[in-house]
Amino acid sequence: MKKLIGTTMKVAMAVALVSVGSQTMAAGDAAAGKAKSLTCAGCHGANGISSNDLWPNLAGQKATYLAKQIKAFRDGQRNDPMMSSMAKSLTDQDAENLAAYYASLK
Ligand code: HEC
Repeated sequence: MKKLIGTTMKVAMAVALVSVGSQTMAAGDAAAGKAKSLTCAGCHGANGISSNDLWPNLAGQKATYLAKQIKAFRDGQRNDPMMSSMAKSLTDQDAENLAAYYASLK
C-alpha cells in the first residue's frame, strides 16, 4: 500500500512537471517576436525605447501585460489611431512572441 502511494505521487509529480513544461512552451518565443517587431520599431524604437514622448517604451515591461495590451488594441478594448491598426493583423501567438521579445530587452 505504501509503495502504491509512492508510485501515485511520482506519477502526479510527473504530470505536474509536464503541464508546467507545456505552459512554458505556450508562452512567447522572443526570437519570433523580434522578427515580427520590425514594423513596431518605427515608433517604439529598435530596442524598445521610443524616441517620441507620445509613444511608450516597451523594453523591460512585463510580458503578460504587453500581450494583454496588444490583444486589447486588436480586439477594440483599447483604442488608439496608431496602435489599433498595428495590432489588427496580429494573432494571439504573435502577441505572445512580441511581448516575450520586448520583455527580454533592458
Ligand atoms: C505608428 C506608431 C506605432 C507603431 C508602428 C506601433 N505602435 Fe505600439 N503604440 C503606439 C502608441 C501611440 C501607443 C500608445 C497608445 C495609447 O496612448 O493608448 C502604443 C502603445 C503600445 C503598447 C501599450 C504599451 C503600454 O505601456 O500600455 C504596446 C504593447 C504596443 N504599442 C506594442 C506595439 C507592437 C507590438 C507594435 C508592432 C506590431 C507596435 N506597437 C507598433 C504607436 C505605435
